[in-house]
Amino acid sequence: MKIAVVGTGYVGLVSGTCFAETGVDVTCVDIDENKVEKMQNGVVPIYEPGLELLFHRNIEQGRLHFTTSLEEGIKDAEVIFLALPTPPGADGAADLKYVLQVADQLGHILDHYAVIVDKSTVPVGTGEKVQAAIAANAKVDFDVVSNPEFLREGVAVDDFMKPDRVVIGSTSEKAAKIMDRLYHPLVRSGNPIIHMDLRSAELTKYAANSFLATKITFMNEIANMCELLGADVDLVRKGIGTDSRIGKRFLFAGIGYGGSCFPKDVSALAMSAGEVDYDFRILKAVMDVNHGQKTKLISKVSQYFDGDLKGKKIALWGLAFKPETDDIREAPALYNIEALLEAGAKVVAYDPEAMENVQGVLGDKITFAKDAYTALEGADALMIMTEWQLFRTPNFEKIRTSLNNPAIFDGRNLYDVNDMRQQGFYYVSIGREVAK
Ligand code: UDX
Repeated sequence: MKIAVVGTGYVGLVSGTCFAETGVDVTCVDIDENKVEKMQNGVVPIYEPGLELLFHRNIEQGRLHFTTSLEEGIKDAEVIFLALPTPPGADGAADLKYVLQVADQLGHILDHYAVIVDKSTVPVGTGEKVQAAIAANAKVDFDVVSNPEFLREGVAVDDFMKPDRVVIGSTSEKAAKIMDRLYHPLVRSGNPIIHMDLRSAELTKYAANSFLATKITFMNEIANMCELLGADVDLVRKGIGTDSRIGKRFLFAGIGYGGSCFPKDVSALAMSAGEVDYDFRILKAVMDVNHGQKTKLISKVSQYFDGDLKGKKIALWGLAFKPETDDIREAPALYNIEALLEAGAKVVAYDPEAMENVQGVLGDKITFAKDAYTALEGADALMIMTEWQLFRTPNFEKIRTSLNNPAIFDGRNLYDVNDMRQQGFYYVSIGREVAK
């Protein structure tokens, strides 16, 4: 089987590489010449655990190819995935220009039957637009399918290889059969391939991400209540998570969700609702609460320094929006840095993977440390922004002696409150008692 993947971002590159691993011949197409040349020379353009091994193996075995030419890439491909960016436009709605441009080109050059698959997260109705854009010039038969991707950054390879479910939106039996054949190796454990119509598949992706963002936000509000009522959010989490209707996952309170998907998708679904005159009130509240949650710790840091952060040096552990990625899109750390700098504080940060990306955005506005403990030297307090494993069992003695004040503001609830109290730290976390 031969397939093409157009767009080599996170989703495209992971999908292409993983399909190659199942024995399929994959050609990845991207307009970025520089990126394609690097990939042809064996350089993986993103950090994603486990990807590099599969990437090199499949290039060596001749199953994974890269090109800038769409025409060359789709030659003989039975399935053509569109994994193109759909960034939020000025109005918050997903911008479809990249998807529709490629659809238009496909209409001109397609010379055999193929299944065109929308893998990007796109508003309901996009599949029909893609269909129309191709059909305007197409000389051959084709089908358009929606196949939303649910992989998480940091565990993308695993998520792709062992999906909880595969959603296929199409009313064409021929296309559905081809998709089943392609996905068969990934669902051998018995997880389902769920077939539905195009529109339902498109909405499924938005509903999943918006539900998860709502779940996190609900817990963040419970955490805020815990602080006011003297309860502990970690205990409440355990207390409710054991109810199988609620589930244990995605209940961790913190400094808000970030990343490339949740913020964009919640806003896009709220926008789509507006377009059909539906006021999706929960989503508006989710966006509002999450915005406030991101910088929630700042007022507590400020309070600790009697309202004056001018000249204070704050060490930051973690910049990525979550562990095991170098992705800083919508990362809470960036919002905290902005607020700290605005208040006149100095920031010195450490992150195992994301420092280069932040430097690209902030330049020398903040300092970057070579390791976690160097960041603490002469700092007045430590703020924890990302729950990298390496921060979970630190050398507390070293933290205390390096900091000017033994103060930790933890946005990810990494440590035990009583333990921190016994060790003499001033320790503020989310939805739990303050240790003083
Ligand atoms: C998400 C979806 O999980 C995935 O299915 C979809 O395809 C893309 O969007 P991703 O953005 O990689 O994946 O990150 P995820 O691990 O889901 O975390 C999203 C955000 O929620 C992060 O900022 C994370 O810190 C936050 N989060 C997650 C919490 O604050 N609490 C939790 O309990 C879980």
